[in-house]
Amino acid sequence: MNLQPHVHERAASNQPASDDAAFASALADFQHAYPEYAATEKLDALRATDYARLDQAGHIYLDYTGGGLYAETQLRQHLELLSSGVFGNPHSQNPTSLAMTHLVEDTRDYVLKYFNASPDEYLVIFTPNATGALKLVGEAYPFTSGGHYALTFDNHNSVNGIREFARAKGAEVTYIPVVAPHLRTDPAALAETLKTANPQAHNLFAYPAQSNFSGVQHPLEWIEMAQEKGWDVLLDAAAFVPSNRLDLSVWHPDFVSISFYKIFGYPTGMGCLIARKTAVQKLHRPWYAGGTLSFSSVRALDFYLTPGNAGFEDGTVNYLCIPAVKIGLQFIESISIETIHHRVMALTGWLIDQLLQLRHSSGSPMIKIYGPPDLQARGSTIQSNFFDPAGNLIECTTIERMASAQHISLRAGCHCNPGTREVALNLSEDEMRSCFRDKDSLSFEQFLHVIDDKLTGALRASIGLATNFADVYRYVLFAKSFQDKFIYPPN
Ligand SMILES: Cc1ncc(COP(=O)(O)O)c(C=O)c1O
Repeated sequence: MNLQPHVHERAASNQPASDDAAFASALADFQHAYPEYAATEKLDALRATDYARLDQAGHIYLDYTGGGLYAETQLRQHLELLSSGVFGNPHSQNPTSLAMTHLVEDTRDYVLKYFNASPDEYLVIFTPNATGALKLVGEAYPFTSGGHYALTFDNHNSVNGIREFARAKGAEVTYIPVVAPHLRTDPAALAETLKTANPQAHNLFAYPAQSNFSGVQHPLEWIEMAQEKGWDVLLDAAAFVPSNRLDLSVWHPDFVSISFYKIFGYPTGMGCLIARKTAVQKLHRPWYAGGTLSFSSVRALDFYLTPGNAGFEDGTVNYLCIPAVKIGLQFIESISIETIHHRVMALTGWLIDQLLQLRHSSGSPMIKIYGPPDLQARGSTIQSNFFDPAGNLIECTTIERMASAQHISLRAGCHCNPGTREVALNLSEDEMRSCFRDKDSLSFEQFLHVIDDKLTGALRASIGLATNFADVYRYVLFAKSFQDKFIYPPN
């Protein structure tokens, strides 16, 4: 029994491994099918300079929805900036503090400019990541009994988690299902739910601009549609903005969550909440902290929160990293988000077509894709599972491990998006409820045993700005190597 897929001799190289003629022919077919790709050659030049370490180390990186990759230029520029001055903790009047405050506020303005958001309408709150932005909204949103939190099945756990704040305050929680196999939201259920906003209370509707599981792009038109029906809209843009333009002069969500490392890789630990000023006025923070106050008293047991972004930035902001956000955004602008978009979508289209064509000798499909099988309203995330010649699913973690042995970085699991996984893999409500039946009496080990067979997930390949044709070609070669093979996970 063959436990390893065929390993090509030059597997660790990004050059086509087995057959240069086959590679050249595939490339020519690809270029013919996606002529717009030629206009993205600037990114090939950057791959050879700013991202040269990928090929030097023989990495095929296909985990951009997990995290973007930084360009070396970003690191250099950040280091030069830090080396060129003396920077202290902001928000004081001393010169080193003022220098830092200037850079922090300059970056804040730049984030608004990048997303074309009017400073009259929006403000930027720096957070450690998208999750931090979502938590700020969740904990401070004025949920009450009679109020409502509606969200799509397709959401990251950090959006799902807001439901616990809503429930604790007695608000109704409604999930809007997605429908297999394309995993788009059921339009009738969406329309019905949006009708149920309570005009006497606060209603929050949350959805991702792009699914981190299936790559589905949910319509931005829903923002206005929901607002007209009485909802505040939380748009989770974390998976969308790395390769799509979000223009906040066209779309006006109340809250937007973003992790910067997903766009340009460096620095980690930086995200933001972009919030409409009118929506921010509705939020009531459950506590205060250093950095958020204008005045507080121990004797009087009271405080004044600073209005605007400062009231939401707990403690000392990540001040030395904040200027690196502007550097990252400028780097993206130097390429143009449209160029990135066209490139990743061309590679995604080709990769989907190739994977869907793969067949065992019996004619049975080798791969199932969860999500749209074409480029209609989707991003560059491809979720799939591999199947053996008898039609049995091969554990995604086994495939991930085998890909890793060839320096191919994929990601296996549910990707913190349980709702979409449950629909994609057809896990019923009863099955899921059974995992929680004896929740309070089970030890962690017993709990792991109970959920063992519910941990199946899928394999995610996600394409980003530094991906080239050779990367996706290598992935297809890897996938092809499973033809007619039965794979057993190691004990
Ligand atoms: C759509 C989406 N939302 C939220 C998050 C959470 O991001 P972070 O872990 O950076 O807080 C992610 C991360 O993958 C995501 O893809």
